[in-house]
Amino acid sequence: MDICQIIEEVGTPCYIYDADFIRARHKDLCEALPQGKTRLFYAMKALSNLKILKVMRDLGTGVDTVSLFEIQMALQAGFEPNQIIFTPNLVDFSELEKAVEIGVGINIENLSNLEKFGIRYGASVPCCIRFNPHIALENDKESSMGWYEQSKFGIPYAQFNKILEIVSNYEIKVEGLHIHSSHVIMRDDILQKSAELMLEAAKKLPELEFLDFGGGLNPKQRKIEATNISKVGQQLGQLLLEFEQETNRVIHLRFEPGRYLVSEAGTLYVRVKVLKQNKEVTFAGVDSGFNHLIRPMLYGSSHEIENVSNPDGAYQEYNIVGNLCEADDFAKQYRISELREGDILAIKDTGAYGFSMSSQYNARPRPPEILINDGPPLLIRKREAYADLTRNQVEIRI
Ligand SMILES: Cc1ncc(COP(=O)(O)O)c(C=O)c1O
Repeated sequence: MDICQIIEEVGTPCYIYDADFIRARHKDLCEALPQGKTRLFYAMKALSNLKILKVMRDLGTGVDTVSLFEIQMALQAGFEPNQIIFTPNLVDFSELEKAVEIGVGINIENLSNLEKFGIRYGASVPCCIRFNPHIALENDKESSMGWYEQSKFGIPYAQFNKILEIVSNYEIKVEGLHIHSSHVIMRDDILQKSAELMLEAAKKLPELEFLDFGGGLNPKQRKIEATNISKVGQQLGQLLLEFEQETNRVIHLRFEPGRYLVSEAGTLYVRVKVLKQNKEVTFAGVDSGFNHLIRPMLYGSSHEIENVSNPDGAYQEYNIVGNLCEADDFAKQYRISELREGDILAIKDTGAYGFSMSSQYNARPRPPEILINDGPPLLIRKREAYADLTRNQVEIRI
């Protein structure tokens, strides 16, 4: 079945994922990062369909979760608790207690919960601590420091002594140190500094087993340079080796890739509904919007768009926009082969944070998800209907 047949069958808009891309990117990572010393935990927030989780499970990755329901979904997809890590942000301590009961790995990112964890568990349950490295580089104070100073994530490195005090007071077993700062961390210079800083901290934490660098590995995408993962692997491998030689201790690595594993695997297919001219701008209005793919509007992400119905037309410039009652651009001044009403467009590299950040804004149902894996295409989520928009709306006095 080719793409047009699938779309004929399920209609637009729809997300189609190709499992071969996931397997290929997973293989790239396994080959590039220090072998035998690296564990991958797929950041399921990027794309959390149960079937995608099963593909990940079959590849042997662990899974990184940020809420108790994500943990529940990972368990439902067949992951064992010891393959799951929980890296929530600023949550009530009771969530950590529930996660401990389930038996998943715990990542703590504030001093308040670290202290409660110590009081509650002492040395009986290990944990990982998330840092904010607060790195300012020469000539780059604004972008690196700006990010870290504004960030709510992680415990500032300046408070490391306080961490040590709490750890020692309650004899907490710190098995890992964690940093995630998305695109910022994966710059060579910042990665180098933060890894050095974590390894320095590791010297004061004798039970430490791993460093977790979170996600942030850039996949290939329009206007984004893909992260040179071999270089990341070599850089960190070298630092770990030096640490081993100096201390006689072996430290392992963890990564929590989201976009790198699933971005390229996903395409949002939409249909051009209306062409409209306003002075020199030609708008192509499609049957979707930021309710289905919010990253262009939220983060300015840029996606290659193909005219599947008319690939050989003459190239022209369009603003490709959604149908919501707000500014809702997929791409501005985009050159693409001539668009006609009814044409199908493929918005590429939308597997990550596409469906998972979608909404029902403007009372427009969410699209279906289809997976191309072995055998015929598999519908892995139905298109929502009117009933899904009103399902939980009640009039019950409380
Ligand atoms: C703690 C943590 N790990 C991993 C990720 C995944 O990041 P990415 O999709 O950029 O790989 C995120 C994203 O927000 C995160 O917050």
